[in-house]
Amino acid sequence: MSFDLVLFGGTGDLAWRKLLPALFQAWRHGSIPQDARIIGVARDSLSNDDYRALIASRLDVVESDKRPSAEEFTRFASLLYYLRMDLTATPDYERLAHMLRERDAQTVVLYLATAPNLFTTACQQLGAVGLNTPRTRVVLEKPLGHDLASNRDINAAVRRVFDEWQIFRIDHYLGKPSVQNLLALRFGNALFEPLWRRETIGSVEITIAEQLGVAKRGAFYESTGALRDMVQNHALQLLCAIAMEPPINAHADAIRDEKLKVLRSLVPWSPITLARDVVRGQYTAGTLGGEQVPGYRQEAGVAPDSRTETFVALRAEIANWRWAGVPFYIRTGKRMAAHEAHIAVNFRPAPHPIYRTPLGMSNRLVIHLQPRDGLALHLFSAGSDKRGARAADVQSLAPVQLDLDFDTRFGKERVGAYERLLLDVIAGRLNLFVRADEQEAAWRWIEPIMQSWQESDEGPRPYPAGSWGPSAASALVARDGNTWMEEC
Ligand code: BG6
Repeated sequence: MSFDLVLFGGTGDLAWRKLLPALFQAWRHGSIPQDARIIGVARDSLSNDDYRALIASRLDVVESDKRPSAEEFTRFASLLYYLRMDLTATPDYERLAHMLRERDAQTVVLYLATAPNLFTTACQQLGAVGLNTPRTRVVLEKPLGHDLASNRDINAAVRRVFDEWQIFRIDHYLGKPSVQNLLALRFGNALFEPLWRRETIGSVEITIAEQLGVAKRGAFYESTGALRDMVQNHALQLLCAIAMEPPINAHADAIRDEKLKVLRSLVPWSPITLARDVVRGQYTAGTLGGEQVPGYRQEAGVAPDSRTETFVALRAEIANWRWAGVPFYIRTGKRMAAHEAHIAVNFRPAPHPIYRTPLGMSNRLVIHLQPRDGLALHLFSAGSDKRGARAADVQSLAPVQLDLDFDTRFGKERVGAYERLLLDVIAGRLNLFVRADEQEAAWRWIEPIMQSWQESDEGPRPYPAGSWGPSAASALVARDGNTWMEEC
């Protein structure tokens, strides 16, 4: 199937860090036909060759086994084109329309990897020059707005031009193989379903910890912060994958209907829970991996008295029959002690213990999202039955783990998140994309947090780079008698 993919923001960070490397991988795996066109669009005056050379010079960010050889890049680069455009100027859209009509590919993907304040104008203009044909799909990168109202405005503007089935809202976490595995674990295996409920599960922890700081994105991050950047989208999508009911089939709307129900069942915030169940932090200078790193306020583009949070921990509850009363803890931050994302499903202790088990520990299923992709089931066993253990009246059990490492089992060569999502857009599969009503429900839920922070005199709590965030985050789970996973 022939396609043209137009990459608005074609010289931006996302394009050369994620999108073009992913398209290259897809091409290398034979998933992109040699007659496809990838058209980078930006404001700079570049020829096709300049653009190809620019991309080639940036590909050293790609892991070495995924980097193209010179010969491979030359062949891949023959798919790359460049068009200079000012996204506010109508004649530039006419030039784009002309370029796309040169050959009328079966599918046209318009990927808006630009600042979100351009989405509305870009969609209006694309519609005005007739680029909203049934062959067109539009891809929107997050953040889609900065609050519920702006999110609605963008979605309304996009839907005036495109139908919902043409709109692909990206949350790249949904493309990660580990998230696919989580859905397969829940809905492809009957084993866990009877246990997947409040009677057996005591709490759920979702942690997305990064060691990176804000790097060169200080100015963007200042107006975003961890709540909008990570919680509103990635963390809540993970929560949905854990908490949703089994969908009636694997079609996009069946899955999205169930996720929406979870988002709508999140217990709304009250002044009490806002003060008690949400912690925000901001990293200060510290040591990470043996290196001294600056604090957030010293990063380029960041105000010296910034109140932007680089860390959030919160306790959510879902008001439905399956989950009522079960705390869902979400924690995400930059410059944390480890690069580590996982979901820990903590089971309740045995109802009538006849053995002694290590204090505070119970069965736990850990879904490792990154850097490794795997599953671990934490159990107790009689262990090696050493002399002495039997001497006591009550036998002590030792913690053991059943460990499944998907990287070893299936190889590192699996399709990466952006590669998977881009191929899905080209094929018109919407399963792994977010519907407008899901996004709105997520914004509606976090908005009171944003408001309470704005009204508060207190700023985020400082935490040193290389730590696990402010101590208040430990206190948040300790109140329920719980601990974060690395604290066990
Ligand atoms: C992006 C955020 O959506 O996700 C970044 O804007 C963050 O701030 C990134 O670093 C994390 O993605 P991943 O795949 O590296 O965990």
